Amino acid sequence: MTQPALEAIRPSVTKINMMKTPTADDLEDMHFRSVLERLTPNQGAQMLRYGWQREGVISLAQGEGSSKTPDFIAGAAYKALQDGKTFYAPALGVPELRQEISNYYQRLMGLNLPTSRIFATGSGTTAMHLALTSILEDGDDVVAVTPIWKNLLGAVELTQSKIIQVPLEPDESGWHLDLEKLFDACTNKTKAILIVSPSNPTGWIMPEHDMKAVLEFARDRGIWIVADEVYHRLTFDRPYAPSFLEIAAPEDRLFSVNSFSKAYAMTGWRLGWLVGPAASESVIRDIALYDNMGPPTYAQYGAIEALRHGEDWINDQLTLWKGNRDKLRTYFKKNDRITWPDSEASFYAFFKVDGEPDCVALSKRLIDEAALSLAPGCAFGKDCAGWLRLCFAVSEDKIDEAIKRLDQMIGC
Ligand SMILES: Cc1ncc(COP(=O)(O)O)c(C=O)c1O
Repeated sequence: MTQPALEAIRPSVTKINMMKTPTADDLEDMHFRSVLERLTPNQGAQMLRYGWQREGVISLAQGEGSSKTPDFIAGAAYKALQDGKTFYAPALGVPELRQEISNYYQRLMGLNLPTSRIFATGSGTTAMHLALTSILEDGDDVVAVTPIWKNLLGAVELTQSKIIQVPLEPDESGWHLDLEKLFDACTNKTKAILIVSPSNPTGWIMPEHDMKAVLEFARDRGIWIVADEVYHRLTFDRPYAPSFLEIAAPEDRLFSVNSFSKAYAMTGWRLGWLVGPAASESVIRDIALYDNMGPPTYAQYGAIEALRHGEDWINDQLTLWKGNRDKLRTYFKKNDRITWPDSEASFYAFFKVDGEPDCVALSKRLIDEAALSLAPGCAFGKDCAGWLRLCFAVSEDKIDEAIKRLDQMIGC
């Protein structure tokens, strides 16, 4: 951009930067929906902004890998653009993509899912919104297993349903869910149980026998299961994490949310999918039509290529991430101040530092004094104050440097 052109936009940029944050009164004057005032603050996003693009800061706060989308996927989307795949497409995705997702489940899990149960969406987040919007209304309860990615709680809050959190319990070997506590938390107002497995941020995988017990319970009580399975390929000791889809019948009240973001380095594409029961197609289509009318057309051709030819890519990424996880494991074991229940999946380490109960203050200090940005644990649920989340989906060098910086601040 030329200097005069830059000068021309600079005043307006300055003006935007100087605008004061609106108060609750300002917002009320505007008559936005009242539920928006009741949304719980997203401390993870706030901390991300605090450390955003600060010079020299290593950011391991965001939940994404550091690799760009591989060329074979990007090339397919580019070709689709050139071939004129630039028009509106069906709201639930182009038929080829829906079929390819079905083929993927057949190859991976031996499942036979008809395309009428598979809906391509403009991200995993959108898939979650579509699922929740189709079942929740004011006055419903949602029982959510926590720690959990905060945005999912936000999605429930937007529907005006109430969230009941059931925390996983940590020990040396990992995280565990007490099923009795989960079942006790369900009342006659409970419309859905929300489970993220593999979990962001803990890396916990729900064991298959627990899935079966939850499915039986939910069937008995007429409760929906909303399963976020976005990290199902990010497993270090098995090809994929068990899915509720493997044990459910087509008519069960189950939504499985998934995404291209994590496994295929496609976070910026905003592409995901949803699998629902046989009866849900027309319902989800209606909501999708009144929402965004479906994911971008050309991008779906990149996604098809990801599913067809993405296995080597996934394996290479996992090899790198497993090495990083093992480095962190070795360091955490040496540092007596750190508690880290072992992680089986995802690309996060969720850990606690002895003597540091305030994770927001510690995250700020890590940015200011050690140039390391991590996500504060309190963003992930009511019992997570004092924890930190570190995303290790970066180069080995970056992990070495991050460990060094962490050690400067919280070495024993
Ligand atoms: C559990 C979970 N679900 C969904 C998403 C969002 O996926 P997408 O990028 O497809 O919206 C994330 C992103 O961090 C996540 O951690």
